[in-house]
Amino acid sequence: MRICLQGGRVVDPAQSLDERCDLLLEKGRVAAIAPQIDAGDARIIDLSGKAVLPGLIDLHVHLREPGFEDKETIKSGTAAAAAGGITSVAVMPNTEPPIDSTAVVRLIKEKADSEGYCRVYPIGTLSRGRSGGEPADFASLYGAGVRAFSDDGAPVTDSRLFKKILQALAPYPDVITIAHSEDLSLSAGGLLHEGAVSKKLGLPAVPAVAETVAVARDILLAGATGARLHLAHLSTAGSVELLAWAKEREFPVTAEVTPHHLLLTDEEISRSGALAKVSPPLRTEDDCRALLEALRTGLIDIIATDHAPHTLSEKESGLEAAPCGIAGLETALPLLLTELVGRGKLSLADLVKAYSYRPAGILGLEGGSLQPGAPADITVVDLEATGTIDPRKFHSRARHSPFTGRPYRGRPVMTIVGGIIRADRGAVHG
Ligand code: DOR
Ligand code: ZN
Repeated sequence: MRICLQGGRVVDPAQSLDERCDLLLEKGRVAAIAPQIDAGDARIIDLSGKAVLPGLIDLHVHLREPGFEDKETIKSGTAAAAAGGITSVAVMPNTEPPIDSTAVVRLIKEKADSEGYCRVYPIGTLSRGRSGGEPADFASLYGAGVRAFSDDGAPVTDSRLFKKILQALAPYPDVITIAHSEDLSLSAGGLLHEGAVSKKLGLPAVPAVAETVAVARDILLAGATGARLHLAHLSTAGSVELLAWAKEREFPVTAEVTPHHLLLTDEEISRSGALAKVSPPLRTEDDCRALLEALRTGLIDIIATDHAPHTLSEKESGLEAAPCGIAGLETALPLLLTELVGRGKLSLADLVKAYSYRPAGILGLEGGSLQPGAPADITVVDLEATGTIDPRKFHSRARHSPFTGRPYRGRPVMTIVGGIIRADRGAVHG
């Protein structure tokens, strides 16, 4: 089927493009892009007044399947992604069983093909069984198409093992190691950021240095081994300084920041309780400012949600017992359009760079641009649409969020994956 998207404002920094254009989609790819295209017998979709972006690519998502289907499934999580304007997700291996075998990789890919609403790229574990004991079988996972490895949710605490892993992965130029940088001996027992709020509440806390100590180790080992390292969910100003240090030395390091670490502080725990409990914890205004500045300059390469769904009953089991994680796929775009683009803190083109173009480059994917020949993965947004964040409308099984009730201006209205409309004004199509 041929589709002609007419009259939208196409924002594609890879082509230095920000102007009103038509797009012709054919056989799952962009066939043409021009100020005016003769649609012929193609289906015409009028997008005047809307912005048309290369499909968003989220490099940090937990879909929970196999093993934790009460929290999320491949079907519900990819529906949430499509509804949120996201066309590709890289999915973390802390499933049960974990993604440490080609059988689990195959299972996820098959489910995503048959039930999913967007593209799914499984991330393999760094250690066999995610146990932190010995390296996973990288060669066979690579053979099954895996290009990113992580024990996310936990660091590889043993530095000798982490070095061995990086040495094993260094020969693969198209592979990244995603580090969950945390020193568990410094963070153990902590429920929120160590600072004024934790003192006021009298609760055990996670100091900023629990992250920076680990970031320092991880970037030093990347520099020493030459392996490509991607730092997940940076949360502190100190980590940003260390990242700058590593990049000045041309270490093979990239980094991500989540919407919640950009937009929420440790104060949020007082309002939202365990709904705002996340790892790493929400930090301070100063940290948010440093993260945003680093994102603005491109020092932090990308935005990723760390979509980490848990059941409401788990989240309501008390601050101490509740698991860490925030469901982010359906709030990311409205929040980023409102709080960053709408307030002039980040241009729409820079948002596309951080949430589509650079993620594609880091993972070696074809997307990230709408040049002719590119996959027809497209996110259409309405920059004027207003409303408030309402988790009851989520497609994710985790229908709760610390952002509940936040007003927004700007949201995704259509998501196209491989030339097929997967979400249209909130409704998803299988
Ligand atoms: O908040 C988090 N939740 N951080 C992580 O690193 C893991 C994740 C999860 O799997 O729930
Ligand atoms: Zn995660």
